[in-house]
Amino acid sequence: MIPAAFSPHAVRGRFPALTQTIDGQSVAFFDGPGGAQVPQSVLDAMVTYLGHYNANLGGQFFSGHHTTAMMQQARESAAAFVNAPSPNCMVFGPNMTTLTFSLSRAISRDWHAGDEVVVSALDHYSNVSSWQQAAHDKGAIVKQVRVDESNYSIDMTHLASLITDKTKLIAVTLASNTTGSLVDVAKVVEMAKKVGAKVYVDAVHYAPHHLVDVQALGCDFLACSAYKFFGPHVGFMYVAPKWVQTLQPYKVEPATNQGPGRFETGTQSFEAIAGFIAAVDYLAQWGEPTHSLRERLVESYAQYQTHEQALSAHFIQLMRAYPKVRIYGITDDKQLVQRTPTFAIRIEGVSPAEVAKTLGEQNLCVWNGHFYAQGLCEQLDILDKGGVIRIGMMHYNTIDEIDRLHQALLPFIND
Ligand SMILES: Cc1ncc(COP(=O)(O)O)c(C=O)c1O
Repeated sequence: MIPAAFSPHAVRGRFPALTQTIDGQSVAFFDGPGGAQVPQSVLDAMVTYLGHYNANLGGQFFSGHHTTAMMQQARESAAAFVNAPSPNCMVFGPNMTTLTFSLSRAISRDWHAGDEVVVSALDHYSNVSSWQQAAHDKGAIVKQVRVDESNYSIDMTHLASLITDKTKLIAVTLASNTTGSLVDVAKVVEMAKKVGAKVYVDAVHYAPHHLVDVQALGCDFLACSAYKFFGPHVGFMYVAPKWVQTLQPYKVEPATNQGPGRFETGTQSFEAIAGFIAAVDYLAQWGEPTHSLRERLVESYAQYQTHEQALSAHFIQLMRAYPKVRIYGITDDKQLVQRTPTFAIRIEGVSPAEVAKTLGEQNLCVWNGHFYAQGLCEQLDILDKGGVIRIGMMHYNTIDEIDRLHQALLPFIND
């Protein structure tokens, strides 16, 4: 059976948040990079788990069996989502930041004074501060690669100059949560492998828009968060097979020391994990039903990308008419495949906070600020100037919503 083709109108009715009115007016959500809206199927999965199967792992009764089986299913869904070679590479935890701080302690156990770590100015600081602090504890040196202001990705030439035979780890994002630019992480991995450095990847902003493939990237670790791709607040992480048993995570005795559970502390948010499984199924729904979950994700994401690129093209084309608008990101129509539909803009003479507040009063949800992309905002010299307005589109957004946003921006962008 060939599934129906994706269109935002085919999914919008399934998101309670998208169909609600606030003060008699519909809401347009352009805040997706801060957290996406959630479909009913995800909400149902969470309520069903808590309402009927709430238990801990390993209980010798129906809800314990259910929870244990669900955890295994979650690892399988997560493995399909990032194309991991095995579900045993997939670890769950509260969020990307907590997982990264926790893993940074395990990874840095064998670092010594004078060892080097490379972080990026493009990254959310969850993937910077964690490594800076781990390095500080060991006397290791931290270097930060600059942003290339021609494409708002990382400066690959600068990166090459920072890598030495003392480099232990490179931490980098797959996509900027501010400029939307993608990073060629496969290339970073290639450079890292030449000196035996590990690569830790942040997939949080990339995952709702592009399908992660850890085998194609060749990275050692990759962390992600489900609330950015239509799921609940839960994080997960890929640990390459060679590190699953060999790294020594900080653990409570006598918790399991086998498999991915080694990296999980305390009791998981099982209701969120139920929602995570449903979110992956939601994302895969436009694939051929007889295909594997991974194949269905590949088929579905191809459709999301076509739509998201059309949204980007429309927004860029509208904004081109206004010299007061500056977009910090790729605007060339032929390069849209190199970005997500996330736009960082500033409007001459107006503070980002003022614009976001005015739009918010009209139920147009956009973010303002730095989004923890501190290195980027420092390099662009906008950290103390209110950062940027971030207009983030998801596959549920429509051309009509962008037109409504455009109209609301007119008082600020017209000369
Ligand atoms: C690119 C990026 N990385 C990491 C994070 C942190 O994720 P979490 O909230 O799951 O810790 C965010 C959150 O906004 C993000 O946008």
